[in-house]
Amino acid sequence: MDKKLYMVSLGPGDIELITIKALKTLKSSDAICVPTKSEDRSFKKSLTHKIIIELMREHNFKKPIIPIYTPMHFKKEDWQYQVDVIYSAFKDYNTLSFVTLGDSGVYSTVYYLLDIIKVENPKLYCNSEIVAGVTSFSQASAKVKKPLCVGDSRLEIIPLLDRDVPKTTIYMRPKIGMDTSNIKESGEIYTFENLNYDGESIVPYKKSIVKKYMTLFIDFFK
Ligand SMILES: C[S@@+](CC[C@H](N)C(=O)[O-])C[C@H]1O[C@@H](n2cnc3c(N)ncnc32)[C@H](O)[C@@H]1O
Repeated sequence: MDKKLYMVSLGPGDIELITIKALKTLKSSDAICVPTKSEDRSFKKSLTHKIIIELMREHNFKKPIIPIYTPMHFKKEDWQYQVDVIYSAFKDYNTLSFVTLGDSGVYSTVYYLLDIIKVENPKLYCNSEIVAGVTSFSQASAKVKKPLCVGDSRLEIIPLLDRDVPKTTIYMRPKIGMDTSNIKESGEIYTFENLNYDGESIVPYKKSIVKKYMTLFIDFFK
């Protein structure tokens, strides 16, 4: 049986803000890989573990938990270690979920691990899936009833670092028929149309004319 790896976004810490898809994925996994910053692999400091325990209690399921030591030093050997723990868990299990807080597309460990898996184990990479989640800043916005962007405003996400960093830009709210030549790409741009609806299309380039209202472009950092 093919091994399957799910990267599951848990949302911002409220178990009611986990998606139904994430919950179903956890319930159908053989085991759940949970990051911990504790060297002794305990979950004393792990918020993620707390969420998983609460979810299992609330939704009446129980899965083996595999601790993944995540020291957050941003070193290649640390990511490699985590990937190796996942590989070794696959000796006992066919389907694993690796969980992260918020949404895995925003500053999460997930892509460091997938970058390694893509090279070392292309089959597992192809069999991996990412489950999107609610970000911390979506939740922050909701808590104070303030929009992140509305009308003629825009949203910026700035990491608090002491250097310039490459950026991802999202373009939304185009007009049908719009010529996209004004969008200057600096990384890897994709066009997303009707995501999750009839006629969904995702292409790794910028479409020259906007055909559908439900279109967004993401110029991913390189
Ligand atoms: C490594 S990033 C992970 C972001 C996460 N993937 C998301 O979608 O929000 C961690 C940063 O996100 C922000 N963050 C995450 N959870 C938060 C929370 N519950 N309250 C406030 N800020 C939070 C903080 O700025 C924190 O330093």
